[in-house]
Parts: sequence; structure tokens; C-alpha cells
Amino acid sequence: MGPNSTGNLSRRGAQLADHPPASEYILEHIVRSGACWHPDSNPDGYVALCIAENNLMGDLVVPRLARDPLPPSRVLGYDAMIGAEEFRTQLAAFLERAFLGRRFPPEQIAVLAGAGTVLENLFYALADRGDAVLVPTPSYAGFWADLETRAELHIVPVPCSSDDGFRLTTKHLDAALAGAERPVKALLFTNPDNPLGKIATADEIRRIVDWAEAHDIHVVFDEIYALSVFGEAPFTSVAAVRPDLGDHVHIVWAFSKDFGASGLRCGLVVSENERLLAAVNGLAYWGAVSGHTQWILGRMIADDAWVDHYRGELRRRLGAAHAKVTAALAKAGIPTLPAEAGIFVVCDLRRFMAEQTWDAENTVWRRILEQANVNITPGAACRISEPGFMRLCYAAEPIDAVLDGVARVARLVG
Ligand SMILES: Cc1ncc(COP(=O)(O)O)c(C=O)c1O
Repeated sequence: MGPNSTGNLSRRGAQLADHPPASEYILEHIVRSGACWHPDSNPDGYVALCIAENNLMGDLVVPRLARDPLPPSRVLGYDAMIGAEEFRTQLAAFLERAFLGRRFPPEQIAVLAGAGTVLENLFYALADRGDAVLVPTPSYAGFWADLETRAELHIVPVPCSSDDGFRLTTKHLDAALAGAERPVKALLFTNPDNPLGKIATADEIRRIVDWAEAHDIHVVFDEIYALSVFGEAPFTSVAAVRPDLGDHVHIVWAFSKDFGASGLRCGLVVSENERLLAAVNGLAYWGAVSGHTQWILGRMIADDAWVDHYRGELRRRLGAAHAKVTAALAKAGIPTLPAEAGIFVVCDLRRFMAEQTWDAENTVWRRILEQANVNITPGAACRISEPGFMRLCYAAEPIDAVLDGVARVARLVG
């Protein structure tokens, strides 16, 4: 095959086959994940501290999902591709109690196969090929694949600075908008934040929405970590600071993080924009959630007493894991940024770099990967504006594996 040949594929098929839309750290993770750490059989095994997955809650979630009787045979058949009405009604009640603070009707909720699928479809409907979407950085690395792969949008980073704890202000937004060389259609804001684990205040949320409205652009609030809060500050949803969302504000959530159920592939958008929901409905057939998954999750979230107990345990376990890992990092001389939510912590590795460049960051990341057999998310993948910060996810692996990984990193960089 010549350099410009697509083989027997279309140009876009060849592009996907030759350049999978995944970051380097994910590709390295896939290669290594067959030889994971085990206390007895593989103590030097691979420790994945790069995946934002919560595996701390399975002992509660799995028995709850298995508790119910057999599902009705209707779950075997076709139903609304944006989720069965019964499930969306259960979600409406759950979301109200859990974090939205008010009840959206089931028609304003669309369910798809995970937050990534929701975002992909949502932005396909919000912006045209070549349009720009603002994303404050550091950010979740997957947004680039979600928005740029099929919809062919263009993410314009809104770089925040370590000087003020990476807080987003309207000055940052003004600068990014002014510098964007294409029409900006939307802003994608993650709260609680990935990778920082920070929570935006109600005032910050209001300012962001007012700014977006003044510029007539959509704001998608990715609230996928809404319940994964362990600090003192309460989480405030955009739904709680606005009497209505209007046509420009949309909320995304999923079971992936807060219920540690990323493999069940179930996410949703809440929106009051009827035409947007109609467009998402038009695409939903290609990203629908299994009827069986909807049925078991629906029964779980309708069990208020169980959910209340679960939320208490989630907070307690995340807080304990965060405290253990940050204490181990501090002991190893690795500073971390303060976090109050999420399943990750940002480590400041600048002092271990020969110079403050992206090459030096990559060298440290590679050494950690190849010599310590530990994968953490390099700041470059999170599009952070300053080299030397890396995200460490502490809830995907057993805490002993996490602490062993930290000890190996400490030995290496120390
Ligand atoms: C902020 C954010 N949004 C979306 C996703 C994608 O979630 P899902 O697995 O539900 O597609 C992630 C996963 O890490 C995330 O951190």
C-alpha cells in the first residue's frame, strides 16, 4: 500500500484504522493490561494509574443489580432508542434527589451508551464540521476523540494557569473566543472537574452561563462526577442555579463513575431544547442502551434507601483512598493539587524534570512507564498548558496496588 493509499477502505475508514482516536497512554495501557499487578503472582506487574475508573464500589453495586427477579420479556424487544419511558421516569426521580434538585420530565432526558456517546451525538447536533468548541484545560483527554473524530469539530483549549489553581474565569473565555479562528458554537465544562477534582461554586457556574448566553453559544455541563464528592464543599449542579436551563444549557451524566459501572455503557443528557433532543433521538439507534441494562439500573436507582446508603459509602471510600494516596505521595516528596471530588489527583512532578519542557515531561512519563511499570496520565494528554503535571487515578486498582505503584514511582524519581 502506498503512503496515500486507503487499501480497501474509505478515506475515513483508513484514517481510523491507521490512527485510532486514543491517546498514547491508553494505547500503552492496552498493551500492558494483560500482565497486571498481583500481590503474590505478579508483585512487579503493571499498575494502571491512568484510567478514570471506580472499582471501589462493586461489592455494593453487583449484589444490588443481582437482587431483583428476572426481567420482563419486554426488555428483549425494541423500545425508544433514547431509553424506555419507564427508565427515563425512574431517572428523572433519581436525578432530582441525587443532584439536580428538581424534576425534569422524562421527555427532557435522553439515554445513550455512556457519556462519551452522549457527547459525541450531542455535539454532532450542536455544531457543524469545522466549527469550534471551547474546552477549559487541563481537561479529560477523551473529549478530543469524542468531538473531533466523527463530527470533525475543532476543540479550542481555554488554558487555565497553575498560578491561580487552574480556576476558569471569563477573562480566559474571552481570550480563547477572541483567538478562535472558527465559529465557536459551544463550551464544554466539566464539573466536578477531571483531572483536577475541583468543584465549581454556584457563582462560578452562574458567571460561565451568563458569559455563554451573552455570546449566544451552548454550554454543556459534564456532571459525570456529581456524586463522587468527598470534600467539604457541596456539589452544585447548573440545574440548581437556574430557574430553567433554556435552549442553551445541557447536562450530561452517566453511571460510569458515580456507580463504578463504566462497562454497562449508560449515560444521559438532560436538556430543555426540544429540537436538540429530536436530533439526538434521530441518532440514538446507533448508540442505544440494552433494555436489560436499563431495567436493572432503573430498579437500582428507584431504591432510595439503597442509594442513600451507597452515596454515604461512596463518599467515605473515595475520601479514604484519596487520603491514603496523597499521604503516600507527600511522603515520597511528590506534591499534589488539592482535590475534593473525582477519582484522581494531579501530581506536580516539575521538580523531577531536567527542564520545564514537554520533551522533559514525556521523558519522565516514559521512565515511570518503562522502568516502574506504572502508567499515569501525562499532563500533555490533558492538554494542560504547563509541562510537569500528571494525573494519577487511584480508584481503578486495589489500594495496595496503587500504593505499590506510588512507591515504585517514588523510588524512581527520588
Ligand atoms: C469528564 C468525563 N466525561 C466523559 C467521560 C466518558 O464516560 P463514559 O465511560 O460514560 O463514556 C469520562 C470518562 O473518563 C470523563 O471523565
